[in-house]
Amino acid sequence: MATPTKTAITVTVNGRPRHLELEARTTLAEVLRDGLGLTGTKIACDRGACAACTVWLNGRPVCSCMMLAIDADGQAVTTIEGLAQGEALHPVQEAFIEHDALQCGFCTPGMVMSSAALLERDPHPDAGAVRDALAGHYCRCGTYPHVVAAVLAAAERKS
Ligand code: FES
Ligand code: FES
Repeated sequence: MATPTKTAITVTVNGRPRHLELEARTTLAEVLRDGLGLTGTKIACDRGACAACTVWLNGRPVCSCMMLAIDADGQAVTTIEGLAQGEALHPVQEAFIEHDALQCGFCTPGMVMSSAALLERDPHPDAGAVRDALAGHYCRCGTYPHVVAAVLAAAERKS
């Protein structure tokens, strides 16, 4: 059987340029988890239906299971591991803890990434705007009310 051809790309991940060689079919989620060991990004449905795999691409939330890694060549990716500033958690992360906004935690990294992106573009969202920003994020544990409360609290903290 022929050996699959590999393509070289460079992606800046959490501020650090990463040089990668991968098959063209490799998704961004796969390369983050399996290639770079950044397992905070979760793969649940692997087909764009749950948003558990959300990361930032140039500061905007994307489902990393739906994006080929080669399409991230030359771009900047931020994962949940890159959100904290050293030991200081992002206000959304702190608020999730304080408001008990997670149970199993499988949906949580994606929820946090979309919530943090919302506060970047709208520092003072109301509950409706938070729910809109999190549309498409599925939580099988039903944490939605706590998540909305946490994001509103994080907005207060940031202001
Ligand atoms: S794992 Fe990517 S959308 Fe569900
Ligand atoms: S906390 Fe379990 S899926 Fe959301």
